[in-house]
Amino acid sequence: MNAKNVMFDGYAAQYDEWFMKNDNLFASELKLFQKALGNIEGKRLLSVGCGSGLFESYIDCTNLEGIEPSEDMGKIAQKRGIKVISYSTIEDVDLADSTYDIIYFNGSSSYIADLRPAYDKCKRALKEGGRLVLLDVPKESAFGFMYLLGKSLNTYDHEFLDGAMPELPYPLALAASGVWHTTEEKIGILENLGFANLSYYQTLIKNPLYTNEEPEEVLEGYKSGGYVAIVAEC
Ligand SMILES: C[S@@+](CC[C@H](N)C(=O)[O-])C[C@H]1O[C@@H](n2cnc3c(N)ncnc32)[C@H](O)[C@@H]1O
Repeated sequence: MNAKNVMFDGYAAQYDEWFMKNDNLFASELKLFQKALGNIEGKRLLSVGCGSGLFESYIDCTNLEGIEPSEDMGKIAQKRGIKVISYSTIEDVDLADSTYDIIYFNGSSSYIADLRPAYDKCKRALKEGGRLVLLDVPKESAFGFMYLLGKSLNTYDHEFLDGAMPELPYPLALAASGVWHTTEEKIGILENLGFANLSYYQTLIKNPLYTNEEPEEVLEGYKSGGYVAIVAEC
């Protein structure tokens, strides 16, 4: 495993704290997460890059497994009731065929450069009719632009951004280590792999400066949101 794959080591506390301070933003993302997963009762789930299990702590984890390359993050997830089956990346883990009803990446695709082999592995691990759920900040969104600008300037504290930044932006190191993908790039990969019946949901429609004012609703579609879910069937 290379250093890039454990990039979240040392950031576990900062990551959770950021969501706790941006509580309305978190509430909006949590609504999207729950909407995209749908009814999970009796279903076997795998969270790829489960992190600290923050979102999972709001759903029933009985049949939920996780993989997570960062031990810092994964150990917190374990304490929150997630069965972490491997401290490794999706690229390195072995998954048995036709095992899961739902596999999801909540923010994890944004740290994986080559998505096709990762999604292909998940397709084989899903049961027939199973669902792959991808939730991310789209590269083309206002949040995506903000993170890419921070990454290229190596700071958010720049005159170009005066008056435009939210009070507590996502930690720069995590924004800068992201590999931000567009939603259409992911749609293209899913269609090419033979996934069907794609549906889309979005939240964080307001500009980042105003996102934490109040929780937002989940809307259908993917062309406006700062956090977007794609649901695809096997
Ligand atoms: C933005 S965090 C999301 C964590 C968690 N899913 C959540 O929603 O709070 C991205 C996670 O993906 C993990 N990750 C990075 N590269 C990965 C890879 N190649 N395979 C699996 N997980 C990866 C990171 O360690 C990190 O925990």
